[in-house]
Amino acid sequence: MQQKPKFETVAIKSTENKYSDSAPVSMPIYLSSTYVRNSDGSYKNDFVYSRSNNPNRAIVEESIAILENGKHAFAFSSGMAAVSAVFQSLKTGDHILLPDDIYFAVRKLMEEVFKRWDLSCDFVDMTDYGLVEKAIKTNTALIWVESPSNPQLKLSDIAAIAEIAHKNKAICAVDNTWLTPVFQNPLELGADIVIHSTTKYFGGHSDVIGGCVVMNDEIIAEKIKNIQVLSGAVPAPFDCWLIARGIQTLHLRIKKQSKNALKLAKYLENHPKIEKVNYPGLKSHPQHLLAKKQQKKGFGAMLSILIKGSEIETTFMASKLNYFTLATSLGGVESLVEHRKSVEGIDSPTPYNLLRISVGIEHIDDLISDWDNALSIDK
Ligand SMILES: Cc1ncc(COP(=O)(O)O)c(C=O)c1O
Repeated sequence: MQQKPKFETVAIKSTENKYSDSAPVSMPIYLSSTYVRNSDGSYKNDFVYSRSNNPNRAIVEESIAILENGKHAFAFSSGMAAVSAVFQSLKTGDHILLPDDIYFAVRKLMEEVFKRWDLSCDFVDMTDYGLVEKAIKTNTALIWVESPSNPQLKLSDIAAIAEIAHKNKAICAVDNTWLTPVFQNPLELGADIVIHSTTKYFGGHSDVIGGCVVMNDEIIAEKIKNIQVLSGAVPAPFDCWLIARGIQTLHLRIKKQSKNALKLAKYLENHPKIEKVNYPGLKSHPQHLLAKKQQKKGFGAMLSILIKGSEIETTFMASKLNYFTLATSLGGVESLVEHRKSVEGIDSPTPYNLLRISVGIEHIDDLISDWDNALSIDK
């Protein structure tokens, strides 16, 4: 006969999960790092250990795979961890082509980390797929596309570049963070891999960091899954819960944000203090027709502008805005503005007078009047 348990043991046993069979409407957060094994050695639902899998992560992965029209998706603890997993899936000696205007941390990751692992790379102007074809080497294994690019919103013809990749036995990966599957489906255009920083529009509220890699190919899936589980850069259950909640309203937010962005871009384009507006929805964008074809459902909610003036005048202008918070990142419900050159560093190819704008869901009249006011203030 077992003796009556003491206080310490009762404290543990009395707080065990007795309600795992309940049926909550909203997904609970499964913080448990480990799962009960049946006496025959099997597991209920195949959840074993939270680095390998977790219900909150599984929901996010299943959802993003469906939304991107992919068979598999793997979630990571940040967008950069997702990017790294794709680079880690290559073999030493492989060559990568990347866009010349690319999210600066990906450029740094290549140059400061993966070059030491004997991956080589070239940065190409991917607005011209002829240049991409010319830059291919016998050992090119991956063409990395970011369309629209960060921060100058250059577009790349995903279908044409995927075709070049396949003709040369390489794969094509597309960072779809800025458009999300609401506006662009790279796998449908022929890409092999889609990458997301779920920190941005998927999360949507500037309160979580995450990433995801999506694909159809079973061999690529196996490699990425292995890197995810063995390297262990996995998202926490609460972070997955936030991202899953964000996904529910993603289409509402980004459509409204994109509508606002087009109106703001049109206003800024006609302002005498603005030198240039980079936004694919404007007829003046050099790849407006490609945007209409490739981004079938919308132009996105990111734009960048060049101010007529010095770096000091540019940052001064941004500081006069009230509804655009001066902060890095993008894709949240609130509008943000950022002087990219000072974030990216002295080596960055970004113009000194560029401001990157992430348009939120506020009323467009207020957003435009905010710019009107800021642009009317002389230092
Ligand atoms: C296009 C793009 N890809 C990847 C990332 C990296 O994402 P994270 O900050 O979640 O690591 C960012 C971040 O700004 C981004 O803009």
